[in-house]
Amino acid sequence: MAKLKVGMIGGGGPGSFFGMVHNRAIALDASRELVAGAMRTDAKAALRAAKDYGIKGYINYQAMLEAVQSGEQALDYVTIVTPNFAHYEPAKAFLQAGIPVLCEKPMTMTVAEAQDLARIVKRKKVPFVLAHTYTGHPMMMLAKQMIKDGDIGEVRKVDSWYNQGWLATDLEKSGQQQAAWRTDPKRTGISNCGGDIGTHAFVAATWVTGLGVKKVSARLNTFVKGRVLDDDFNTICELENGGTAVITATQIAVGYRNDNGFRVFGTKGSIEWHQERAESLLVRHGDGRDVTYWTGAEFDLPAEVSSYFRVPSGHNEDFFPALANLHTTIERQIRKGRGEKGIPVAFPHPGVEEGVAGMKFIKAAVDSSKKKGAWTRL
Ligand SMILES: NC(=O)c1ccc[n+]([C@@H]2O[C@H](COP(=O)([O-])OP(=O)(O)OC[C@H]3O[C@@H](n4cnc5c(N)ncnc54)[C@H](O)[C@@H]3O)[C@@H](O)[C@H]2O)c1
Repeated sequence: MAKLKVGMIGGGGPGSFFGMVHNRAIALDASRELVAGAMRTDAKAALRAAKDYGIKGYINYQAMLEAVQSGEQALDYVTIVTPNFAHYEPAKAFLQAGIPVLCEKPMTMTVAEAQDLARIVKRKKVPFVLAHTYTGHPMMMLAKQMIKDGDIGEVRKVDSWYNQGWLATDLEKSGQQQAAWRTDPKRTGISNCGGDIGTHAFVAATWVTGLGVKKVSARLNTFVKGRVLDDDFNTICELENGGTAVITATQIAVGYRNDNGFRVFGTKGSIEWHQERAESLLVRHGDGRDVTYWTGAEFDLPAEVSSYFRVPSGHNEDFFPALANLHTTIERQIRKGRGEKGIPVAFPHPGVEEGVAGMKFIKAAVDSSKKKGAWTRL
């Protein structure tokens, strides 16, 4: 089986965060390799970053795309790891050229851009995966599968949260790279905390349950002086089945690192997952049977989930494999699309429609908060 060749947009340079995570995720299975990149805004820095990775460098995404179209550069898909403002244009260009895209979240800056990408994906039928990393954890996939199979009955209520403390002070003033662009509306969009991690909590609530949000009442706060955008994001939502979801995110929770998780309460049971102990999933049945499932091959779990395991339980698989699983999903979609035989089923990880819903959610929450929490349709 020939390795898929991957190109990366953004993610370069010693100070960058998620490019390194994608690089490892791509390499985790021997079935994909990072071969090219347009990894920084400055042309020279972009070429240097690619050289450091030992891959072919391009001065920008346009040059990389031209090389693909002229047949100079072989690429099976690209991954986009730029700040939010630089997702839409490269995603659009590669999709229009028929090249699959694994794009970072939040998908775009606006709802209109997100809808545009959705139209292109639909028209061109090109694989597109949205990098909500946590959905790649097998236990989060199992939660989705169990709820779909009716294991906890009908969903009544969801509590989905994401608490961090790293922006409890004005870190951006120090020039810290990740804080600087996330708090800048020109580079991050209309919401900082909501866009950055509220979208993860939103996807957890909606993708896991299979239920969309109809309307939202929100209160966004900016606690740190001098900051323009929210650093605290609170919503109560009406789900499409009439249930309620409480979806919150904060960056000012001092002492909290990456406290992301959810509880789903159904008519027959409840299900609970915590990112900081991602390899287990707790299912409560209300008769004293609290069952903890673990990532690992010895459990009799659905093949849709277990085909993503790599090692036996107890041999920790965590953050990097979760992102790798999203690369596995786009790889399976690509190989299946080419008619390769024996490719396992690709799990329905978030794609362009979840990206559109996420952007609508952020827009509705920002609008609602401006109107003192008025119920606002997505
Ligand atoms: N899925 C997740 O769990 C997760 C986690 C962290 C970050 N992210 C997302 O990843 C993206 C990047 O975040 P980060 O924290 O790695 O940021 P970062 O600042 O660490 O890295 C951004 C990189 O993009 C490069 N870049 C900026 N503009 C560019 C352009 N126009 N063309 C090419 N390269 C460009 C920068 O030089 C840098 O290398 C964001 O959209 C963020 O939301 C997702």
